[in-house]
Amino acid sequence: MLNPFDIIIFGGGGDLSLRKLLPAWYRAYQEGNLPAGSRIMPTVRELADRAEFIEKVDNALQAHLSTGEYNKKDWAVFAEFIHPIAINVTEIDENWTLLKERLEAEASDRSRVFYLSLPPAVYGRCCELLSQMELITETSRVVVEKPIGYCGASAEEINSQVALYFKEEQIFRIDHYLGKETVQNLMALRFSNVLFENLWDAKTIDNIQISISETVGLETRAGFYDKAGALRDMVQNHLLQLLCLVAMESPHKLNANSIRAEKLKVLEALRPIVGKEVKENIVRGQYVPGTMNGKVVPGYLEELGDNSTTETFVAIRAHIDNWRWAGVPFYLRTGKRLKKRCAEIVVEYKSVSHNVYEQNVGPIQPNRLVIQIQPEESIQLTLMSKRLDSLEMQLEPVTLNIELAEDYNNNYQGDAYKRLMLDAAANNPALFIHRDEVRQAWKWIDPIVEQWQKSGVPALYRAGSWGPIDADELLAERNHTWYNAG
Ligand code: BG6
Repeated sequence: MLNPFDIIIFGGGGDLSLRKLLPAWYRAYQEGNLPAGSRIMPTVRELADRAEFIEKVDNALQAHLSTGEYNKKDWAVFAEFIHPIAINVTEIDENWTLLKERLEAEASDRSRVFYLSLPPAVYGRCCELLSQMELITETSRVVVEKPIGYCGASAEEINSQVALYFKEEQIFRIDHYLGKETVQNLMALRFSNVLFENLWDAKTIDNIQISISETVGLETRAGFYDKAGALRDMVQNHLLQLLCLVAMESPHKLNANSIRAEKLKVLEALRPIVGKEVKENIVRGQYVPGTMNGKVVPGYLEELGDNSTTETFVAIRAHIDNWRWAGVPFYLRTGKRLKKRCAEIVVEYKSVSHNVYEQNVGPIQPNRLVIQIQPEESIQLTLMSKRLDSLEMQLEPVTLNIELAEDYNNNYQGDAYKRLMLDAAANNPALFIHRDEVRQAWKWIDPIVEQWQKSGVPALYRAGSWGPIDADELLAERNHTWYNAG
């Protein structure tokens, strides 16, 4: 069990905090993982009344926790952990002194986690003020959200500003996908099963697909999203991190340095896509009105209320230039307003080298491994098997299906933010991103954005579909097809 700590959530009244961070801490409390005496300090711009803010948190928890998780008894105890405070994150005023007094009322070696749930442009300034107020101790850590910057240069600038006040080992760059249980299970699957280790390379694998499809549209984030687009919002971080975990070599130990070093090698080996290759290997799309669950939903431009060429969908054919992966296409895909919410990794194996059955049963379907990250957490392996009801030799695909959450009788609530914030409190950076990874990821993304700025417009797709037809054609060029869940 951890020692008591303080977590200061800058932007504590914002969407991320109310929807994800505070519900995650409630879960941590319910599971007995929030040490007594710890303090959660959401900062807000103005705080007229503590009770009013606490009521807002109460409503948010009721709205965002699943049925059965919330109850008044637990809430009453959990509410005592919350100590909101009004802070201006860009100027020092008397409230900063109040924050300092509160923090210094506890022992000086108590861990402080500063969670910057703020626009990245103010990370530097907020860290500067923390430093001016002498709030950064040896056991302090800062957690920053993705995407860091909107290009390599801006990310460097932000990272350098934060680095003036915190050492690299104190900086926890969060990518919540790394906190998802099935994402960690990907490493467990690869590095604790000989079966897969020997069948995990260009000799046996034909192609790999990594998809994160969402049903939501712009939501309330027009200001951020229209500037970012799917490439910066999802590919630069979540999809490239998943790619790293799928493609990396085994770390020699499961510690932060070894894992990060192996992930970085994958990013370095990622073949650049530049100039005219962008059009050949990448599809960008934007949704137009369509029907979802029987209801007509507006297109991106209607939701935005403006004209825009921002992409809400990206599909990429990427290659990793190293011995293990030479020639294997990695298809990355993400989009909003797609048919189904799903995140999964699909490993399509090659066909058997010689089909002894051909005359009787026709082609053999290659094996396929599907690791579903959400909404269900499952692993499916499709094999060929003989039909039992036929005297003739007839083959059919059968699927081994492991529903990972099934054994827990609903006693388990996967929550990526809970996992990662507890890691930050425990000073375990293994599932956070190193500055070098951010730099390398942008190095790969920047030329794509540059090319898009020079030419082309997004291909349109209907809300409720699986994206533009061009994305199917991208795979068809190599005789591949997307594996679409459900
Ligand atoms: C966030 C993106 O990082 O991830 C959002 O900014 C996206 O645009 C979200 O909706 C998806 O996360 P999850 O966990 O719901 O798949």
